[in-house]
Order: sequence, then C-alpha cells, then structure tokens
Amino acid sequence: MCGIVGYIGNKKAEPILIEGLTKLEYRGYDSAGLTILEKENFKTIKNKGRVKQLSEITSQENLVGTIGIAHTRWATHGKPSSTNSHPHNDSSNTFSIVHNGIIENYQELRKFLGENGYQFLSETDTEVIPNLIHYYFSKENEHSENTFLKAVNIATKDLKGSFAIGVLCTHFPDIMIAVRKDSPLVIGKGDGENFISSDIPAYLSFTHQFYFLKDNEFAVISKDSIDFYDTQLTKINKEISQIDWDATSAEKNGYEDFMLKEIYEQPNSIRETIGNHLSLNTPCQFDELNFSKEFLSQIHKIYIVACGTAMYAGLTAKTMLENICEINTEVDVASEFRYRNPLINKNTLCIFITQSGETADTIAALKLAKSKGATTLAVSNVEGSSITREADFVTYTHAGPEIAVASTKAYTSQITLLGILVIYFAETLGKNTKILEDMKKSILELPAKTEQLLSDITEIKNFAHEVYQVKDVFFLGRGLDYNSSVEGSLKLKEISYIHSEAFYSGELKHGPIALIEKDTLVVSVLTVQDLMDKSISNIQEVITRGAKTLIITDKILENSNFTKIIKVPETNQFLTPILSIIPLQLFAYYISKEKGLDVDKPRNLAKSVTVE
Ligand code: AGP
Ligand code: GLU
Repeated sequence: MCGIVGYIGNKKAEPILIEGLTKLEYRGYDSAGLTILEKENFKTIKNKGRVKQLSEITSQENLVGTIGIAHTRWATHGKPSSTNSHPHNDSSNTFSIVHNGIIENYQELRKFLGENGYQFLSETDTEVIPNLIHYYFSKENEHSENTFLKAVNIATKDLKGSFAIGVLCTHFPDIMIAVRKDSPLVIGKGDGENFISSDIPAYLSFTHQFYFLKDNEFAVISKDSIDFYDTQLTKINKEISQIDWDATSAEKNGYEDFMLKEIYEQPNSIRETIGNHLSLNTPCQFDELNFSKEFLSQIHKIYIVACGTAMYAGLTAKTMLENICEINTEVDVASEFRYRNPLINKNTLCIFITQSGETADTIAALKLAKSKGATTLAVSNVEGSSITREADFVTYTHAGPEIAVASTKAYTSQITLLGILVIYFAETLGKNTKILEDMKKSILELPAKTEQLLSDITEIKNFAHEVYQVKDVFFLGRGLDYNSSVEGSLKLKEISYIHSEAFYSGELKHGPIALIEKDTLVVSVLTVQDLMDKSISNIQEVITRGAKTLIITDKILENSNFTKIIKVPETNQFLTPILSIIPLQLFAYYISKEKGLDVDKPRNLAKSVTVE
C-alpha cells in the first residue's frame, strides 16, 4: 500500500524519483506526486492517476533540485484525487512529507491542530503529520538540524497507527529525515547520493547496499552521510546489507507484463529456492534453523498463518506435515488468527508465510504467537523485510523480486521451500525414508518439468480466447487439488474481475450445484489418484446440467466428455499443486489480456497489504 521514495545527491532528483516510483507502482497506483526542494522552496506536484501521467507533467517543469520525495498512493483515507495525493505540506509550506500507513488518531490530532490555527486541504489522515511537525518545530527557540529531528521525533510519538515517512524541511535543504513504525522503509546508500524507498527494487539500478530501519528508528540523510538515531535521539550504529538481486530482475526484460515474466521465471525461481537445501544423498540443510530432534519432538501443534496466496501455499504444507511428519497442523488466515485467541503454548510452532514480509495482519499474528510462547518461523521472499526482524527463525524463498500484484513465482517457491522444510523435519525426526527419497527426487525435477510445461502454452491461451466473456467460473477439487482450485480462482478474480469461486468437489451437492446452468464454466483439477473417480463423478454432475469444463490433470483421461483437458507433467503427489497451478496462472493472465485489462496492476489491489 503506497510506495514512497526519496533522493538526495548531485543529480536532478525528479527523474530519479519518477524511476523509483515506477518500480514501486505495484504498491499503489491511484495517484502520485512529488516534492522537489529548490532554493529553500518546495515545488510540490500531485496528480490523480498513474506515475506516467505525473511524469508527463513534471518533465515539463524544469525541476532542477537535487533533493526530493515522491509517492504513489493506494488511498485509505480520502478518495483518490490530486489534493489527497502525497506529498502533503504543512500550512506554512515548511515541511513536506510522504507517508505510507494509517494514522488511527488523525481526527483527534486534526482537531487539536485546528484549534491551534492549522488548516487542512485534504481528507487524508496523513496531513496531520507535517502540521504536527511544524507545531513542535515552531515551539523551539532556535532552529537547527537537531531541532528538525527533535520535532519529527516528538511528532511521531503522538501518532497512533502505522507509518513510514520521508520528511523535507525548507530550512535544511541538505538533509531529509526518515522514520518508520509498522510500515516498510529501506535506505539505499550510494556514492555521493542516498535514497529512501518502501522496497528494495526501486533503486537496485543505483545501489545494492541497503540499511533496514527498525520501528521508531530515525535516519538523517544527506548526500554524503546517513546517521541513525533511536527514540531517545541517541546515535546508533546500523549494519549495511548487500542485496544481490539483479537490477534487471525488477525490469520486464521484453515481456509484455511482469506477471507473464514471473510465470516464465518459475523454472529458475524454483531452482533458486532449492538452492543448497536439498541434494539426493545427504540430509536436507537449513543452516538458518538447525532444529534438533529434541526440539521438533516436543512440537505438538503447528499453525501455518498467512494471507491470500501465501495462505493457500500453507494448505499444501499442512497436508505434507500431517502425512509425512505426523504433526497436527492447522492453517489460518492471519486476520482471523490474530483475533481468535488461538490455543498456543511452548510446544507450538507457528509458521508465517509472506512473500513481501510486510503484510500487516501476518506480522501482527506473529507478534501474538510470540507473546503466547510459540516458536515462530517466517518464510519470506524479501531479505530484511519487517517480519524477518520479528520472527525467532527465518528462511527465504529466494524467488527474486515479484512485482506483479498477482503472485505466481512466489507461490510455487513457497510450496517448494515448505516441501523441503517438511523433508528436513521428517529426516530430523527419523521418519520413513521411502517417501522422502521420492519427494527429493521429484523436487529436483521440478525446474525441468516446469520448463516443459511452459514450452507450449498454446492450448490454454486458445481456451482463454474462447471463453473470456464468461460471467461466472467455478473451480472444483478434492484434497491437494482443492488447493490449486482455490488459488486458480483467486488468480482469475484478481486480474480478470470475473466472478469465480472454488469449492471442494464433495461440497457441490450441498449447495453450489444450484448455480450451475448451461455454459457455466467449471474448472477442475484432477491429480490425486485416490480421489480421481469421485472427482470425475462430480464433474459429470455439472456436465449433465450444461456446464463447460476445463480439466487440469497429470493423468491420461480417455473417452471423456470434457470441453478441454490440459495435461501437466506427473510428480510426487504432494508436489502436484506446484505444476497444476501454472496453466491456471496462464488462464487468468490470458483472460485478463483478452479483456484488455491491466494485468500487473488490477483495480483496487496493492501488492503489499501493509494496513489491516
Ligand atoms: C496474491 O495474488 C495476492 N495478491 C495476495 O493474496 C497475496 O498473496 C497476499 O496479500 C499475501 O501477501 P504476502 O505474501 O506478501 O504476505
Ligand atoms: N493513509 C494514507 C492515505 O490514504 C496513506 C495510505 C497508505 O499507505 O496505504 O493517503
């Protein structure tokens, strides 16, 4: 939700800010704006619409300043409009800020500031921040860089909620201040120039060296220095991290959309996920965990907690953990888990899956689990992301940056990593080795099978062309096939805006079958051998009622009356969701293209859900 960037250096800030915003646009895209500080004056330009439209305006303005902040918005408070977009300046135009997050007590603060003569132009929660900073700044007798920092520090103490903020002040044209609490912010260190941004990809083409701010840490940034302070304004040292992501991984590389590129990256992202964790003849390695048999033996319950697609990856991990490790496992949506008083004690392991590592509900759920004495393990794709600083243990999917809002390669990497993790648990616990050997072999074959699957996509593309005007699509599956159905359905609704729902095939007769009529499209995933006959009977029931059917299967289905069958390669049964989902990702993608929609930036959605 919202992307913020800032630049300070010797170059013109405007194009660098626009470049950063463009890379962060997946985080929000209803409006955009920037402030350039020039000759102790702000030039603030804001516009409803995309970053491209903003850049058409700013490029005409001859903005020569070398320090600035910018923002691409996903509105929470106040409709998308030029006035509501960021940056927001205080009434006297002394402070300009960009903000990601929600100020929960903004009404109270607005009232207080209003009583003290401040006026508000926008409907946002954000506008209280620059005014509050000004309020505290104007109380100081003397104005120095220290009083600027002090004012930001005191103002943030009054804020309830979440924030990542970049602040400029007209009195100090050589510095910018950044602070965060519960919203992401990284600081990129360049040579004679420095950057702030919500996420690493924004400035990978400028630097690979990043600092990660913790909650309530302040950074005072000039072109040649970055100083960090805690809440007491005592200077602190921070370690710099070298991020090895390739700058081009955040570019489209000739693909029409990031989503298509990321779908095609799956052979490689899965290979990267496997990394050094797994080889055929030695036990799986997780140096970052190093769990002992004693530790794992006393785990009586595992909770897997996540949101959206990451939660669906957790469904497959549950099946693997229960069947292979024989540990009772529950999967929960983070926004429910955090408020339902889950039964947790020191014998509970809670696994939190999150591509971004910034999902507010998942982070809050982790904090809750930790406070109740559970051991917490985060599975994330982004080094240094917020959740990785909160969890007892962290392991990374290494899928590379995922830019498209609809998650694809992160999902297949999550299941791959969780599969390896399950083997690691089972080996540590001394479980049945036969299944484990087959799992290992099958995981190592996944990159090649994914490649094979992606080598010819004509059938699914053509089928998408045939049916893209459908109004409703139902997805059916049993067992692990249900997991692919529910994820396939989410992909479709996210980017095509077609109404779709997934059901357990066995639940069909308990209600949903009432919705089936002539030409309704029913997508069914059929890979679980033991449940095959039952699932096929359910599909026949919808065909009898006139439905068209798309079947994703790894089996040879002869003499069938299905409308379309897409064959995927066979693999170990626990890994089938990794291959079954790929045609469904492509199906959603090509339907969205047929409808002429913006695949990478679907309406109303944002890549990281950093607010509740
Ligand atoms: C996936 O296509 C979705 N956009 C969404 O469900 C996503 O998986 C969810 O918001 C969780 O995000 P996270 O993995 O970054 O925590
Ligand atoms: N609350 C701010 C607004 O609506 C920022 C939104 C966000 O970070 O998602 O403008």
